[in-house]
Amino acid sequence: MNLKPLPTDFADRMLAWYDACGRKDLPWQRRADPYATWISEIMLQQTRVATVIPYYERFLNRFPDVAALAAAPLDEILHLWSGLGYYARARNLHRAAQLIVDDFGGRFPCDIEHLRALPGIGRSTAGAILSLGVGQRQPILDGNVKRVLARCFGVEGWPGQAAVQRELWALAERLTPGERCADYNQAMMDLGATLCQRAGPECPRCPLYKDCIARRHGRQAELPGRRPRRASPVRATRMLALRDADGRVLLQRRPPSGVWGGLWSLPEWDDDECRNRYPWLDLSAGMALPARRHAFSHFQLEITPWLITPVKGGDSVMDAPDLLWYNGDSETIGLAAPVSRILQEIEEYP
Ligand code: ADE
Repeated sequence: MNLKPLPTDFADRMLAWYDACGRKDLPWQRRADPYATWISEIMLQQTRVATVIPYYERFLNRFPDVAALAAAPLDEILHLWSGLGYYARARNLHRAAQLIVDDFGGRFPCDIEHLRALPGIGRSTAGAILSLGVGQRQPILDGNVKRVLARCFGVEGWPGQAAVQRELWALAERLTPGERCADYNQAMMDLGATLCQRAGPECPRCPLYKDCIARRHGRQAELPGRRPRRASPVRATRMLALRDADGRVLLQRRPPSGVWGGLWSLPEWDDDECRNRYPWLDLSAGMALPARRHAFSHFQLEITPWLITPVKGGDSVMDAPDLLWYNGDSETIGLAAPVSRILQEIEEYP
């Protein structure tokens, strides 16, 4: 554990840098309350600020508070999330909002242990919500902050490893100031997102220039350590784009867990259930469109869309809650992003 003395003016330098260069007008900073901060932090977990802004604004307009979110149908939440990816985040928001209504009478819990017990809220997100949204002194440790601390204090190893993570948390705790904790945390995230990026850090402009061990030893490219590499496997699938004579396309809802859980997608032919469901389907009546790859965190999905238009036999598709003949504009549904692109693409085909 790194218990060497730490620079006493670390937080002061970060705060001075924040005053001069930090971001102060992001939409979630204009409305600093724990609900709004929660939504923004969940959106920002895996997505860049510029992408998040329009999603955040639409989401807060439609769901201005916990009660509105808890009462909404999941489909509408997924619809507003469409394109942001990592849909478990949206399902967890919904579930957590319902728990806040049921267990806390709709009042957002401002206690770190209660927050961490909610789905989708880990230690760093809970710290960000309470510091940025309520002004509590709470450390954070997201990916950007890990990079700043690992470089500045020369912490070796991949931050995904428990021991490395413990060391970084201990540093974050010791460095977090009692005053202006929100500005300090925002400054740490902003520094990681701007000057202290993974590639091409701009050290001469950095407020931590004089202390930074990585800078002193020219080790910016090595710190933080990288995850030991495993090749990500490729799974191939053929997705049916079945369009009927009225231009409607058959969609199937994904099971609630797994990739794209709860979203609408095209049926996957390679799945046995699908072959059993559409025994009348004649694949030779259609054609393959170019294959494309979609990257998930732990594998790649190679999708070959198979277009059959107009499909014959579609009338025999049973009415089922997980099936929908989709006509493009009449419904508010959550669609997986690559499926949206395929739907647009097939409009070009006669
Ligand atoms: N990433 C996660 N939280 C953030 C925030 N509050 N501001 C900018 N980037 C972030």
